[in-house]
Amino acid sequence: MSLSNSFTVFVLSLVVCLVIPKCQADANATQTSKLVIDANSGRPISDTFFGVFYEEINHAGGGGLWAELVSNRGFEAGGSSVPSSILPWTIIGDESNIIVSTDRSSCFDRNKVALRMDILCQRISCPPGGVGISNPGYWGMNIEQGKKYKIEFYVRATSPINLEVSFVGSNGVKLASTNIRTFGKNVANWTKMENIVEANATDHNSSLQITTSQKGIVWLDQVSAMPLDTYKGHGFRNDIFQMVADLKPKFLRFPGGCFVEGDNLRNAFRWKDTVGPWEQRPGHLNDIWKYWTDDGLGYFEGLQLAEDLGALPVWVFNNGISHHDEVDTNAISPFVQEALDGIEFARGSPTSQWGSLRASMGHPHPFDLKYVSIGNEDCNLKYFLANKYMKFYKAIRRVYPDIQIISNCDGSVNPLNHPADIYDFHIYTNSKDIFSMSTKFDNAPRSGPKVFVSEYAVWKEDAGNGSLLAAVAEAAFLIGLEKNSDIVSMVSYAPLMANINDRLWTPDAIVFNSYQLYGTPSYWLQQLFIESSGATLLNSTLQTSSTSLVASAIQYKNSQDGNNYIRVKVVNFGTVVENFGISINGLKSNVQQTGSSIVLLTSPNIMDENSFSEPNKIAPLRVPLEKKIEDLTYGLPPYSITSFDLLI
Ligand code: AHR
Repeated sequence: MSLSNSFTVFVLSLVVCLVIPKCQADANATQTSKLVIDANSGRPISDTFFGVFYEEINHAGGGGLWAELVSNRGFEAGGSSVPSSILPWTIIGDESNIIVSTDRSSCFDRNKVALRMDILCQRISCPPGGVGISNPGYWGMNIEQGKKYKIEFYVRATSPINLEVSFVGSNGVKLASTNIRTFGKNVANWTKMENIVEANATDHNSSLQITTSQKGIVWLDQVSAMPLDTYKGHGFRNDIFQMVADLKPKFLRFPGGCFVEGDNLRNAFRWKDTVGPWEQRPGHLNDIWKYWTDDGLGYFEGLQLAEDLGALPVWVFNNGISHHDEVDTNAISPFVQEALDGIEFARGSPTSQWGSLRASMGHPHPFDLKYVSIGNEDCNLKYFLANKYMKFYKAIRRVYPDIQIISNCDGSVNPLNHPADIYDFHIYTNSKDIFSMSTKFDNAPRSGPKVFVSEYAVWKEDAGNGSLLAAVAEAAFLIGLEKNSDIVSMVSYAPLMANINDRLWTPDAIVFNSYQLYGTPSYWLQQLFIESSGATLLNSTLQTSSTSLVASAIQYKNSQDGNNYIRVKVVNFGTVVENFGISINGLKSNVQQTGSSIVLLTSPNIMDENSFSEPNKIAPLRVPLEKKIEDLTYGLPPYSITSFDLLI
């Protein structure tokens, strides 16, 4: 019987459970499983146990968390040679009244391509509204009534400029507009234009138009439109930022993933090209995830994001390796220096060479960079172990002895044959497999480096675009990691985010478009692990004959109410209701019923997903504890995650 058929049999009991969320014990169940907890013995879980992994994938940054509205702001999406690609810009007008091309006349040395518009018409000979260019942003710009937007661009021309810059709704109606006129001024040289406009209506699918009815030649470059209202003015889209912040991550691994490597080394993420003034950044082809990125959310912004989230940055840098080419170990020194420079950029003094660049960007105080990863998923490549890794390791260790160095070789079966403070472990698999991996680290080497499970997820058929089934199986895996937190010191799901219009990799934790967003079940399950960082893992034994249950118990102090709780998390990855009880030994006083609660994450169908129309179809449901914990026999619904928060 398939999972989904067998599951249907239990829909009735589940519906009862959802209507009466206290989940009655199943009278037909032959056994009651019990988690026996010793409240007197436990060990600390790492303070950085639970975090997030941000990668520029699925337009997570450009067209997502990074609030820039214009896509391809430098007209460079086809590369630095001309003709380059102006997509997704389109031309307003036809060849009888405007000719649009690219040339290499920009005032910016690192991104020489500029847009040239030869305007052939004059005033009434131009179409109504003029001719020019239009940018749809990332599948439509979200322009909201009453909100202010900063529009900036660089311009030069052969004759006085008379441009109209507007946000235009999908119905062609102008939502905000400003005129740029330069009569009597010298416009032969590049000039920066800056304007703030306020929208008079809302349209989630708007575009930015720059038009004119004035004959002549106009060049444009580095066109940007940013909402003024971003998180702390740091450029992060508020709603997406908040959703990440709600996970209370203790670390932020960034900026990849394969994004760091590139399909080809010439397209890899090289941090120096992503810092400094935004208009001077060349941008690059994110060839692994198949789109151009303007690198608005660059290395500096990644560090800033970590700081704003209250998370420690974990910087993954390119170690001279892409998916298709590799720098020889003998020629690796520039990459080693680039890594050292990157660390200096993050934490050097404001007077140091690279620290001063950071300071010039508005952050004189060093960022708290304590973790770096030498590359991503390249352990088995030709040169990696042939000393290349050691060149990075030794150089960083010598200059920054306190930095935790992460190797991307798997040390879970055999100890690593090279030094590292932490090793990185990735797993994407089906639900049964990841469920069974709740014991994966039980026998992993205890001496040597700690483990960072920096990417895990159920994928393919079991996951769809983010199913309950995936979340339940992942929860079991996470509980297993928590129980092995003597060696597993960090864990993050992947990928974190996706713009639904370019979801190359699915599933993802947070899905958005220009104005909406929702968490997949995998997002919501992670919320049950927020309190694990810095908590105490209590010794516990699950007395059961069921092979579908995985459980753990932690003790933690709730930062909001200051109270101490025991949190029991239990996963039922089976097709039947499982009766479950909790017994706690060694508590000085009883669990307080008032103030204790139960959180349930489940749904009537294992392949259920959330969506924009039903964002909370599968979301945690919290109810008060309605009995003393000693008297409670709780029916764990099939394919469910239950968390008992017990006030002590
Ligand atoms: O998370 C998506 C990709 O999966 C990451 O870029 C890579 O590290 C892994 O293969």
